[in-house]
Amino acid sequence: MDHSQAEKKSPWSSTIVKKAIMAVTGLIWIGFVTFHMYGNLKIFVGAEYFNAYAEGLRHLGAPLFGRLHLLTVMRSGLIVAIVLHVWSAISLTRQARAARTTRYAVTRRMEADYAAITMRYGGTMIALFLLYHLADLTWGVAAVSPDFIKHDAYANVLASFQSAPVVGFYMVALVALGLHLYHGTWSLFQTLGLLDRRTDLWVRRGALALAIVVVVGFAVVPLSVLFGYVT
Ligand code: HEM
Repeated sequence: MDHSQAEKKSPWSSTIVKKAIMAVTGLIWIGFVTFHMYGNLKIFVGAEYFNAYAEGLRHLGAPLFGRLHLLTVMRSGLIVAIVLHVWSAISLTRQARAARTTRYAVTRRMEADYAAITMRYGGTMIALFLLYHLADLTWGVAAVSPDFIKHDAYANVLASFQSAPVVGFYMVALVALGLHLYHGTWSLFQTLGLLDRRTDLWVRRGALALAIVVVVGFAVVPLSVLFGYVT
């Protein structure tokens, strides 16, 4: 069996399968960021409430699940989802690049370039942000977060967002996240075959609304801390 035959047989090499993987894993992260954004807003209720919520996440599914058990399952799901999402993105880009040298070289170039740049560079930015964010607020890596206090998410959030450059970095990452969510949600509908001339405008509006709600909902927390509205 030659190489091309082997490729044809493997479902992993199919563009449709990879797009479906992108769609499902993207949806998992859309769900996570929406709930995470909503959960963060509890910071406006006060330290006790916010920390109780953070601790409550560790007891998700109790009494059926023990401490950290369901959270660990969910964290594993998120890691698998992001790895598959990045893998299929890289793989689809390679396939598209190989196809583009022989086929359409000019057609819809501008729109495709805009989307590709937003998704690729934006996606990379989000991945770098995520590493910084976890080092800062979850792992408490001393070099990033010298004042980190275990089990005091409220104090850690307050300490992090005293710094204008850190808040600036969060804002840049959130803009990247917003663009990624907007284009990604629209692509998701396309992959599911739900886009036509009639639905396109509504899907774009819905994707824009989701992106705005998520970005603004996240952004108010660092900004409120920096400007002294949460102390
Ligand atoms: C901009 C405002 C944000 C704030 C104030 C914030 C706050 C936090 C805090 C306090 C934690 C630690 C929770 C704990 O250990 O109890 C955390 C964890 C996390 N955040 Fe954020 N976050 C923000 C944005 C984001 C964004 C935009 C993403 C994703 C793109 C994200 C992804 C995560 C992940 C994956 C975790 C780890 C969850 C876990 O440990 O189970 N966060 N965040």
